[in-house]
Parts: sequence; C-alpha cells; structure tokens
Amino acid sequence: MITARELKRKYIEFFKSKGHIEIKSAPLIPENDPTVLFTTAGMHPLVPYLLGEPHPAGKRLVNVQKCLRTDDIDDVGDAFHNTFFEMLGNWSLGDYFKKEAIEFAFEFLAKFLKIDVNRLSVTVFEGDSDAPRDNEAIRIWKSLGIPERRIFLNPKKDNWWGPVGERGPCGPDTEIFFDTGKEKCSKDCKPGCKCGKYFEIWNLVFMEYNKTENGYELLKQKNVDTGMGVERTTAILQGKDNVYDTELFLPIIEKIRKNSKIKDIKHERIIADHIRASVFALSEGLLPSNVERGYVLRRLIRRAIRSCYVIKCDVSLLSELARVVISIYHEDYPELISKKSFIIDTLRDETKRFEKTLERGLNFFEKIVEKENYINGKNAFLLYQSFGFPLELTKEIARERRIEIDEEGFKEEYKKHQELSRTAAKGMFKGGLLDASEISKKYHTATHLLHQALREVLGDHVRQVGSNITSERLRFDFTHDKKLTKEEIEKVEKIVNEKIKEGLEVKRVDMPLEEAKKIKALGFFEEKYGKIVSVYMIGDYSKEICGGPHVDNTSKLGKFKIIKEEGVGAGIRRIKAILIQNEEYSK
Ligand code: ALA
Repeated sequence: MITARELKRKYIEFFKSKGHIEIKSAPLIPENDPTVLFTTAGMHPLVPYLLGEPHPAGKRLVNVQKCLRTDDIDDVGDAFHNTFFEMLGNWSLGDYFKKEAIEFAFEFLAKFLKIDVNRLSVTVFEGDSDAPRDNEAIRIWKSLGIPERRIFLNPKKDNWWGPVGERGPCGPDTEIFFDTGKEKCSKDCKPGCKCGKYFEIWNLVFMEYNKTENGYELLKQKNVDTGMGVERTTAILQGKDNVYDTELFLPIIEKIRKNSKIKDIKHERIIADHIRASVFALSEGLLPSNVERGYVLRRLIRRAIRSCYVIKCDVSLLSELARVVISIYHEDYPELISKKSFIIDTLRDETKRFEKTLERGLNFFEKIVEKENYINGKNAFLLYQSFGFPLELTKEIARERRIEIDEEGFKEEYKKHQELSRTAAKGMFKGGLLDASEISKKYHTATHLLHQALREVLGDHVRQVGSNITSERLRFDFTHDKKLTKEEIEKVEKIVNEKIKEGLEVKRVDMPLEEAKKIKALGFFEEKYGKIVSVYMIGDYSKEICGGPHVDNTSKLGKFKIIKEEGVGAGIRRIKAILIQNEEYSK
C-alpha cells in the first residue's frame, strides 16, 4: 500500500526526471505579504515568477507545499474537505504548456501510480467573453484515451483558477477526478459534485492571463501551475473513500474515538482536521487572537473544542492530539519538533480560556431559542463578542438545530463594532487615554442611567460597589441579594432605553459636597471626594457625583442591552451591558 510519504517522494522524483528542480515549501504564513492570511496554494509564493521575473532555480519547478484554506470550512466533516492540506505542484514558468502538462499528469497517474485510467474524468473550461473554450485541452485528453463522455465542460466558476487576490496571474484549468465507484447521488451527479462519488485529485492551470483593473490581459509568458492534494490522492491510492481513513488521520481519529462517549463521524473529523491545521499554524509561531491570522487559528481551535463538547470528550484531549499530529508529520516538518512545547502549551491555554465561556454561551443560545426560535444578527454578535463564539460556530449549532440565523445582521453588527473600536482606538491615541474616548463616555453615561433604573426597579437599597468600562461594554456591581428575574432585567433595559430616546441633556454642575447630598445626588465613595464635587445630572432622571467625562445628551448612546447578570459575592450582583450603535438610536 502506498503511503502519503511515498506519494510525495514519487511525485518529486517523477517531475525531477522531467527536468524540474525541487523547491522548498514556503511557510503557511506568507513572507512579505501582509495582504493574504495564509498560503493557500503552491503558486502563491511564485506569483512574481509567473508574472515574468526569472526564478533562480529555472523554468521547471516542483514541490510539496503546506496550505491552509478556510473557504470550505463548513464542508469539513465530509469525506474529503480539509482546512490544512499538502499540495503537490509542478510549474512551468514560460516553458512547456498544455500538451506536456496534461501528458505529464496522465503519465504520472497511469504509469507511476498505476491508477485505473478508466476511473478518471476531467473537466475543462467551456469558454466565455474573456477567454475561449479550451478545445486544445479537450483534444489532448482525447488523444490520451479519455472518452468524450468523461470530459465535462464548465464555466469560469468551476474551471478557472486565480488570481489569489483581486489581481494577478490566472487562467482556465482542467481538473482531474477519480470515480470512487459509489452510486451517483442523483441523475445530475458528475465530477464536482460534493457527494463523495468523485474525488478531485489534480488541478492543472494554464496561467496565461493576468487579471488587472482593465480585465483579463495576456501575460507575456504562458505558465503552468498545478496542484494535487496529497490527502485525497493518498486516500484513493489506498482504496479509501475518505481522507480520514489514511495514516495521515487515522491515529488522530482513533484517539478521539477512544476518548469520547458519543460516536459522531462529522465531529470526530472536525476535531482531527482543525487540530492538525492548528498545529501547523502554531508551528510557525502564530498565536490565537481576535484579529486576522490569529483569529483564523482561534476559530479552528474553538470549533474543535465545541465538537469535543458535542461528542463528550474531555477538551484536554486536544493537546494530546497535537502530539499525535506531530508524530505523523515531524519527519517532513522539523519545525513541529522545535516548536513542540509552544504548540502544546498554547493549545492548552486557549482551550482553558474557551472552555469557561462555551457552556455559558450555549446556555445563552438556548435562552434566545426558547424566546424566538431565531438567531438575529445582534444575538449572533453577542455570542461572538461576549462568549467568544465565532460566527461559523453559531451557524453550525443553528444548522444542527434547524434554526435560522441572520448572517447579514451579524456582519452589520460586526462592522458597527469595528467602527466603534476604531473610534475608541483613535480616542486613545488622540487623548492618550482610552477613558476619554467617545465610546467610554457613552458607557459612562449609560452606567448612571442603569444605576438609577436599578434603584427604580429593585429599590433604594441598590448601591454601586464597582464599575468598569471598556470600549466594548460596561460592568456594574451593586448591592442586591437576589438574582434578577427576566422581567426585572427587561424592565431595567426598557427604562434605560426610554431615557436614551428622550434625549436627556447631561449637565455637569460643581457644588459643595453638602449641597450635593442635599439634592440627593448619588455618591457612595465619600472619602474620595473633595469639598467641591461635580454632579452630573441627566435631565431630571439621575443625579450622581462623578468625575466624568460624559456625553452631553443621552440620545448619543445607542441601544442599551444587558448581556449578563450574575452574582459575584454575598449580596452583590454584577451586570454587563453593551450599547448597540444604530443609526436609529444614535441620531
Ligand atoms: N493553484 C491551483 C490550485 O490551487 C493549482 O488548485
């Protein structure tokens, strides 16, 4: 049985025998290219050479490239989609073109790998106003014995590859599929169908175009760029109908299965795939975070944690799985060994962090569903912001429960939030103090309204014992000895929102402390105050001794929402609330 390592070796050897020079795998995190998150294909680091710059190793290159793609993340769990994968590629930089590229591919599959060519089908670009139908590719395939009924024509969305970003080298491609022999899932089932009957194993791209702002232009050289998936090809060579049954995944899957109480193939696969991808990303020093690459990594890890939760396996297993991944790949990727403790420690820390909020988030999810059987954009965003649920995770849970989710609404909320954070960040740089930013002022004013509303709803025993504001939320601790009921929370929210809508003026009046007491301004930290204090008055509704700063009118706050209420000690409750910035409310 041929292993993945043998496949890689054979590929390199074959193309070396055809005059190619082997180049090293570039890192997953592109060097000198901040515009893309990860290396998604072998051609990625070769863009300048595809555009015409001479490559130091010559015009024929071959390699194994580690890749990370998250476009298909929702498909992970099926037979053959992965986020991380290894891509075998051969390139012609202005040297050979369609004839040799297709002939090499056919020879390698038929003669070197001894794949039954009767089980191969191919797809070819059907042509459009940018480029003609690829009759040449069709002719070459036919000359090699692929009958017309196994040649399928497709539009650009299926048979055109690139550019990676907005612009750059690209071109029509021809894709090679292997028929697993499974039944067709429908009468329209054909190569490209996701049912698992056909495995796409190799993509040959004829890169003779450059996409520019003016459309598609011919490049000064005709290139070939190819990509063969190691995992998929290994699976078919081993007669497996999915990649998880190969030696690249089986030890991971087995360990998961041994340690989980519920058997669920999809979740086992998600864990295996995502941990493998995370290990490779971590091996390049990436840390989970809330932005860009770090967020992709965080999403992968969190999704794996949630799948662990579903199949009732202890999340501490994840770092053990990382060890298995390392043992599978360390010979080809020595960085896995040198970064081993970093990989395992980081994974463990991130797991601990999310484990805490996962259960609370799931409860919050249940509460929303009980109420409206729908996840609107704001709640999806709340799950994201307060409980660390990446959108995919919320989507996945919703899908499992057959509940609709407003993705567009989430995106809008997210955008608003980003604008807010940017405003906050600007404030920070401008004034040197985050506290002086507009959003903090809003939260500060909202805190006063909340304080007063709590007294109104719960009683005058409510006293502030602590307050903390960030650009994302307010946190307010107060005396009260019972959990707030749903009705009480709703009432408080309603009052605060009414006061916001009323557009009350916020005024600061400096006065002697005695005077402030006389007018019943709230203020519970008397030892801190000097003789003259500032009292902030919000219309007639609230009076509170405070150092500020505040916004000048409540209409600027946005919509107030309590996202959490909990006990934090004997007789002390804590509320976390956010302000949702919405045109409608902030006018
Ligand atoms: N760059 C091509 C792909 O990724 C080969 O499919």
